Formats: sequence, C-alpha cells, structure tokens
Amino acid sequence: MSAQLTEVEIDRIRAPLEQGWTLPPSAYTSPEVFCEETREIFYKEWICVAREEQIPEPGDYRAVQVVEQPLIVVRQTDGSIRAMSAICPHRGMPVVGSHGWAQHFYCPYHLWKFALDGALVSAPLMDGVDELPKDCRLPAVQVETWQGFIFANLDSDAPSLRERLSGLDEQVGAYDMGGMRIAGSVDYDCPWNWKLLIENFMEAYHHIGPHNVSLQGIYPAKQSYVSGSVAHGWSVLHMPGIESHGEDSLLPPRPGLSETQANQSLASVIMPTFCWINTPAIAFWYELKPSGHDEMKLTIHALAPVEMLEGDTDGVAGQMLLEVIRGIHEEDIPVNQGPWKGMHAPLTTQGRLSHLEESIWQINQWWAERMTASE
Ligand code: FES
Ligand SMILES: [Fe+2]
Repeated sequence: MSAQLTEVEIDRIRAPLEQGWTLPPSAYTSPEVFCEETREIFYKEWICVAREEQIPEPGDYRAVQVVEQPLIVVRQTDGSIRAMSAICPHRGMPVVGSHGWAQHFYCPYHLWKFALDGALVSAPLMDGVDELPKDCRLPAVQVETWQGFIFANLDSDAPSLRERLSGLDEQVGAYDMGGMRIAGSVDYDCPWNWKLLIENFMEAYHHIGPHNVSLQGIYPAKQSYVSGSVAHGWSVLHMPGIESHGEDSLLPPRPGLSETQANQSLASVIMPTFCWINTPAIAFWYELKPSGHDEMKLTIHALAPVEMLEGDTDGVAGQMLLEVIRGIHEEDIPVNQGPWKGMHAPLTTQGRLSHLEESIWQINQWWAERMTASE
C-alpha cells in the first residue's frame, strides 16, 4: 500500500470506468507523493529525452534532467546514441548543463576529462593516489529509440520499451513520425502538478468548454474514443474530424494512412510523461519536465515531414504550426491552473469520471499499480 493514499482512495481509482473516480487531491498536492513517484516511476520508467535530429552528428549532445538526475544524451563516433549521468564521479559537479558539440567532456571543477562514451580519459594531478577503479566514469543508462524519439531509463533492469509498443505501432505507426523533424519549439513554465496537464491533454470532453470555438466544431467531444493498454503503459485518444482532410486540405495527409486515420487527430501518451498529438499531416511533441509536485517545464515541439521542411528554408511552416498549438495550449492553461487551485481546497474530494475520460482512467490504473507496488 502506498504510504500516501488511503485504501478507499485506491479502491475508487481501481473501480471500473463506469464507476471510476479521479485521483484524490493529495496525489497532486503532496510533495511526498511526488517523492514516491520519483522513486517508483521517474527513476524506473522510460522517459523521452530527445529527438534523434537534435543530436545528428558524432559529438552532438543534449543535457536533460530526469527530476534530480542530470543526463547527457550524446551521439557516439559510430553513430549510436548513449545516455549517461552528467555528474562527475570525482566530487559531484555536473559536467555539462546545456546542449552543443564536444570531442570530450571536461568537468569544469578539476578538469577531469571524459570520452563521449563516459569513460574517464585523464584526471590531472592525481598521480599521488592508487589507480582509480574501472567504474570511475560517467555511468550509462539504458537507451532506446522509437519513431525518431530517444528514450532513457535509469533502471538497468527495466524491460525493453519496444516490447510495450507493438500495439501502439498499429495505431500511430502510419503517421510516420520517424519521417518528421522538429520545425519549431515553444517553452512554457507550468507551476502546477504534471498529472493535471496530462489528464487535460488526454481527453476531448473539454472541447465543449475551453475549446468550444477552436476545436469543438472540428473534433466534437462526443465522437472521441480511446484505445490503449494499461499493461503496456500507453493510451491513444482518437478524435474523428467532421471535415475531410482530403486532397483539398492545406496540409496533405501522410501517405499510407487509411481513410479513418486520414480523418482523425490523435492525442497519445506513453506513460508516464511522453505525450504527443498526430494530425493526418503533422505532429506536436509535448516534452514534459516535472521537477516537483508543483512545477514543471513544458516545451511543445512542432514536427513536420522532412519533405515539407526541405521546401521551407525560412522556417515559416514551423512558425505557423507553433501559432496553432500556442492558441490551443493557451486555452488549456486556465483549465490546468483552475484544478491546481481546486485540489488545494479543503472540501475537494475525488471526482467521478466520464466515459469520454477513459485515457485518464487507464493512466490512473497504471499509476496506482506503480504507487502500490510495495504493498
Ligand atoms: S568534481 Fe569533477 S573533476 Fe572534481
Ligand atoms: Fe485542451
């Protein structure tokens, strides 16, 4: 049993969708719950840390943070990708803090030098000590790629991500995000609990509220439906469109989509935090970086097909796509902030879920399983 949730709360979360409840307020507002999530989820599960095109050449690297663990994701000389701790094994200084290109990594404190694979190359003025142990290096973590996205997992015993995703490939593979590149990105500070954003992201029920003008007419709430696998930790929200995205559309659908696929948009999550949207033509990656129960950074990346970006040397397509997603996200901000305040009110309790919120139910099953793993 989780030390942070009562038996009644857990039973409600685990009830079938028809009798299903949301998480209790403490799941969002408690720093202790976030500590437990960090231990049981963020440090054990697959976290998306970059797109392959962000580190195209050997030596290109990106510094990312998985809660309190800084990582370097770096392209090796043989073209493979490695992720490793950015913390110097000498006295704990972070070796890099941003992104760039390197032949070696130098710790800025006492100038220990590391190869791109994390091996210690040299340590100045250490000749007075015995030989350093072989594991004195930047420790590597597991890495896998899927559709151009790079995932890392701090748990060396974690099962492969790929095994979890075969059913998901059937749903989203044809949208071919591997054949897309980042066309533009926009950053947001989100001073609220990370799960509120994902819950908002994964249901179209609220199209009748904040998106009544922007989305409800195109993707009506009541047409939405969900596929997903709690066991495999992913969920897909299907949003059938009422207008054709056929040949007369501004952006042609990806070749190879079925008629159904070419007339819907999807919002998907690989739990815990990898969220993205597919339209028939393009995609948006929501890069969530939770750092506390009450704070998160969000970067929304617009992804467009390579062939579209080749003809767009001045970046206009990326700017246009970002304008669209900014408009939608800014309609969503108040309905993230509102529940964040609401969760702190003493009279707030668990709420009942709609059948249109099945993704939230699936996410909650997955979450509760991990948060009660030490039962
Ligand atoms: S802390 Fe890195 S070289 Fe000393
Ligand atoms: Fe929304």
